[in-house]
Amino acid sequence: MCLRGKLEWLGFCERREECQLRVDPRAGLGSAVRVDPRDVIRVKRDGGRLSPELIDDFLTGYVEGRVEDYHASALLMAIFCYGLDDAELWAWTRSMLESGTRFDWSHMDGPMVDKHSTGGVGDKVSIPLAPALVACGAKVPMISGRGLGHTGGTLDKLEAVPGLVTELQIEQIRSQLADVGMFIAAQTPDLVPADRKLYALRDAAGLVEAIPLISSSIMSKKLAEGLDALVLDVKFGSGAFLPDIDKGLQLASRMSDLAKGFGLPMTVVLSSMEQPLGRMVGHANEINESLDCLRGGGPKDLVDLTIRQGGEALLACGLADNLESGEARMRTSFQDGSAMEVFERFLKAQGGQGDLTADLPTAPGEAHFLAPESGFLACVDYREVGVALQGLGGARVEIGGGLDHGVGLEILARHGDKVERGQPLVRITHRDKRGLEGCLEHLALAYHVLSEAPDPVGETRTLG
Ligand code: URA
Repeated sequence: MCLRGKLEWLGFCERREECQLRVDPRAGLGSAVRVDPRDVIRVKRDGGRLSPELIDDFLTGYVEGRVEDYHASALLMAIFCYGLDDAELWAWTRSMLESGTRFDWSHMDGPMVDKHSTGGVGDKVSIPLAPALVACGAKVPMISGRGLGHTGGTLDKLEAVPGLVTELQIEQIRSQLADVGMFIAAQTPDLVPADRKLYALRDAAGLVEAIPLISSSIMSKKLAEGLDALVLDVKFGSGAFLPDIDKGLQLASRMSDLAKGFGLPMTVVLSSMEQPLGRMVGHANEINESLDCLRGGGPKDLVDLTIRQGGEALLACGLADNLESGEARMRTSFQDGSAMEVFERFLKAQGGQGDLTADLPTAPGEAHFLAPESGFLACVDYREVGVALQGLGGARVEIGGGLDHGVGLEILARHGDKVERGQPLVRITHRDKRGLEGCLEHLALAYHVLSEAPDPVGETRTLG
């Protein structure tokens, strides 16, 4: 078959408006016909539309090693520039999903629920949320990630607990879900291997922030978890991984379309990261604040968002008749100690040592960032707060690098507060002053004091 014929047979077309599939009915995905990856790149590079067969051939080839990193980065860049339409995005996500195994929990009781956050500074909701959902009768098979850009990752936060491991074998994942009702673990090697490879490449090539690539990356992993319901927390505001609310809404819309297409009930909560959730930023700090929440206390914004997401999850998976009763069950699980009991069992199952319900120690050094003048605190750039933590050693600067779980920031004043010159705005815990100067410089960029009270910042909303 000539190249043109082969490409037509596989559904190749040069122009978007001319696109139609011409697929031999005998050819399924994984057909033996192989396309030169450069021809796939050319389609997208020239603004064309990729057929499901071309996408599958390319992604299968990438996982198998037939398609090289340089091919994949060229295609990703073309997708970055031209995007993927709905049919392409669905096919891309399906091929990612089918690149590995999918969990099957059909032999287990209890609906499987999870939540995913698009990431923000000080976002620790998953930590109190997951055990509370288990205490309310759900099971939570949570595959989670590490810090991304200036935002922290749940796995890094949990690893502040001495002994705790997040790289679990599939046998442990299975038995822990049955015995404890939850796990929070890193992506296993056979779960969406296409995403493992592509994500590392996107990170290295500066190609993370593309809506179709983010949507397919997250949804392929969540679909592989074998869920009955998912809550998606789309963050916006300066502390969010995607600060622009319009981008957040676009992401929510594309992920909702994917969830519908794959038959996964999903609720979207849109929440503001104009300020960190609660007061704590940094790994041990955030575990300690999550423990406060699990003890029935904790800062109101963190507790309210956790309860909202839990209520939505219980409603979506049929464990609550309406949002109010779902929220009430979540609140009770914090107050009667049942969520804390699950949390302790979960930490123990994953290797946590010592008194697992006691606060973790933080780095010994203490310093403060002071208000530069009197007035009202406003326009706090929480991206800079995340970068300030990174400066102390609290976030990775390279893939696989180390981080200090004990350093952190405690936010002592919030947007709109009246402050006096010299008043402490942030309490810093550091180790031997490492990175302290840079941290203070970033905090100085983050904080602005105005003479008049500013408008309030964004609120949390649920999208249907
Ligand atoms: N998180 C993911 O899992 N994938 C992305 O692409 C971005 C954030």
